[in-house]
Amino acid sequence: MTMRSAWLAMAVAAVALAFAVARLAPWRDLDVSATSAPDIGGAFELVDHTGRVVTQADFAGDFMLVYFGFTSCPDICPTAMQAVAEALDDLGGDATRVRPVLITVDPERDTPAVLADYVANFHPRLVGLTGTPEQVAAAARAYKVYYAKAPSEEGDYVMDHSAILYLMGPDGRYIRHFTHGDGADEIAAALREAL
Ligand code: NI
Repeated sequence: MTMRSAWLAMAVAAVALAFAVARLAPWRDLDVSATSAPDIGGAFELVDHTGRVVTQADFAGDFMLVYFGFTSCPDICPTAMQAVAEALDDLGGDATRVRPVLITVDPERDTPAVLADYVANFHPRLVGLTGTPEQVAAAARAYKVYYAKAPSEEGDYVMDHSAILYLMGPDGRYIRHFTHGDGADEIAAALREAL
């Protein structure tokens, strides 16, 4: 091998490795294209934005839109919450059968009071959920959601997290999910189909 072709081979190997890592990365969207329903969701115990302890049972009988995020997220979370709010407005009266919830992955800062202010910006039906770090971790595990603290440019921290919106049925079972590219129209259409 010449020096030049050796460098080229290394560059090709590096690119291949980068693709392999990207494919395996935990924050990559879940591949749920398989025909069998994935094992997503389940029991949780958290505290809502009014300070009330809530569990999965409090939502039984309602369709749920479940999103994990945090209130100081600069971009991704507000976009998702806005899409959810618009989709619910689109549904009109049927929206009463849907409970959208934002489960914080930043319970340290997202207290019930902080969540109360935040959800009020988006939709009256939106429920903010927080809890102890352990309670949040258990809920995230049930929904196969990844999150981790990362340093911010301001010397503070932000949360890296999966940006997946789950639609769960009245029986608590997974129906489908939406990714960041899905807007209010797609969410509203899927809800109409499911309701
Ligand atoms: Ni976010």
